[in-house]
Amino acid sequence: MNIELEKLDKLLDKYADAPGSLITVLQNAQEIYGWLSEGTIEHISGRTGIKAAKIYGVATFYTQFRLKPIGKHLIMLCKGTACHVNGADDIAAAASEHLSVADNETTADGLFTLNYVACLGCCSLAPVMMIRSDGGEETYGSLTNAKVRQILDDIRAKEAAAE
Ligand code: FES
Repeated sequence: MNIELEKLDKLLDKYADAPGSLITVLQNAQEIYGWLSEGTIEHISGRTGIKAAKIYGVATFYTQFRLKPIGKHLIMLCKGTACHVNGADDIAAAASEHLSVADNETTADGLFTLNYVACLGCCSLAPVMMIRSDGGEETYGSLTNAKVRQILDDIRAKEAAAE
């Protein structure tokens, strides 16, 4: 059994029979995999007895759930209040333009998924983004448009060098 499936099963051991816990299960499953695949939803359905169609209904209703694979680097760009007043909209526009993707989209090369989020909990660094890659997370604060472009270019260059 792979590690991720083991984690999902542990989660389901705890919640499978708890009424009203589907959202929690989906949130945690997304935390494990980064998105909700057909296989994940089928597995949850099998363990909880909730029909897959119903799970899809819930997952598509809430914008927080991703039903498509995410890129290698998940950019969580904060649009919370502190970041908003410090220019998060501009930063978001710069990131979006630089990568040619909108919120919740993945670049054609599969490298980045852009995701606007609410407060990341480090408002003193506003405006902030966090990038999750290979199980680790890095926080970037006091962003400017130029800084965002540089960070993304640096990651792209590192990826290209690793090929
Ligand atoms: S509002 Fe962006 S980190 Fe809190």
